[in-house]
Amino acid sequence: MDGPRGEIEATGASAFREPSGRPDLRGQQVPATLPAPLDLPFAAEAEAVLGPALYRYLIGAPRDAMPGMDDRNAEDFRRFRLLPRVLRGAAAIDISTDLAGRRFAGPLVIGAFAGDRVFHRDGLLALARVGRRLNLPLVVSEETVTPLRDLTAAHDACWLQLRAAGPLERIFKLIDLAADAGAQGMVMTVFAPVHPVAGLQPGNFSIGAEIRRRGWSTIGAIGGFPDDDGLGVAPLPAFPGWGWNEVAAAIAHAGSRGLPLMLKGILRADDAAAAQAAGASGIVVSNLGLRQSSRWASPLAALPAVAASASGAVALDGGIRHGTDALVARCLGAAMSVAARPVATALVGGGEEAVEDLLRSWLDEIRAVASWLGVARLDELGPDFVIGEGHP
Ligand SMILES: Cc1cc2nc3c(=O)[nH]c(=O)nc-3n(C[C@H](O)[C@H](O)[C@H](O)COP(=O)(O)O)c2cc1C
Repeated sequence: MDGPRGEIEATGASAFREPSGRPDLRGQQVPATLPAPLDLPFAAEAEAVLGPALYRYLIGAPRDAMPGMDDRNAEDFRRFRLLPRVLRGAAAIDISTDLAGRRFAGPLVIGAFAGDRVFHRDGLLALARVGRRLNLPLVVSEETVTPLRDLTAAHDACWLQLRAAGPLERIFKLIDLAADAGAQGMVMTVFAPVHPVAGLQPGNFSIGAEIRRRGWSTIGAIGGFPDDDGLGVAPLPAFPGWGWNEVAAAIAHAGSRGLPLMLKGILRADDAAAAQAAGASGIVVSNLGLRQSSRWASPLAALPAVAASASGAVALDGGIRHGTDALVARCLGAAMSVAARPVATALVGGGEEAVEDLLRSWLDEIRAVASWLGVARLDELGPDFVIGEGHP
């Protein structure tokens, strides 16, 4: 468990740069002219709303981050340039994109984040409404405070995200809950968790403790653990010891309820092949936003090899900050791009309308730039449409 806010601030574990020229936590003076950290919309407003400790959790700020390397995931996108094809008569463009047999407005997914109502009064309900209005899928963290049924009532394209940890019975129950609530699919996070190791929590803040302090529960806190009072998040182990057999059992159970299941947190070609062998419907290439360590390979760097080994749907998660980032990801093999923090900071700092404006502007950008790239459909894009610095 983390201590109270004062203690968290005093630890100085974050490498996050203050935007205003104030000294950061380690006493270094930072020029006021720096761009918004991580290129996130409404970042300053979100920080003002949340205060430093909760904002630092939202941003992620792992302990081993180096100053000036705020988000390698996003930086990696900047290393690629688009290579347009001219005079292809592409006057009409269709950017609609398929995920698990359903057509969405474009190649964008609203990503999962824990503790929704800690950040905004309406929490994920606001994002579900935006998802419905724009026709984009929404991934719902099992650590969401808003009940799943409220979200599926607002939007018919919710995917429930679960952690591959703890008793399988709990996972089966949550899959049943998702199926009964009308969720469209499951996302199972198989990569390192972010809460349970003290000192390695994002921004050195425990969202589970915060939810519990408020007397709230989450979707995933449905029992299955001794002495679990159902408050906060499920007390999942930091080192779950799961293997492919457990994942295959979860996939089979989801399949029996008619739900596709994607695995999130795959960065290697051999794991992508194993995921397909286990029956996964798809893969979300992700390092969870470098939230507990800055040392993981970036999803964009890993994407081409993973996409080459995968036969199902491939999505890229982490570092999407503009519509054109989704086009780069599409060129390198990801049909869908998932964005979490830009949506979260827009929600906290600008409200539901700001999220809608942001995602609509990304869709507009994708439509225009794809057309100028010389394609009529996004599946015409491939590696020959990008040049990577240092990647001929
Ligand atoms: C506040 C916060 C909480 C998160 N909680 C979860 C979670 O519960 N489950 C999960 O799979 N990913 C979680 N993530 C990771 C995001 O879904 C995403 O993988 C990561 O932030 C990278 O995407 P981004 O660069 O667009 O933020 C969380 C991210 C944030 C910012």
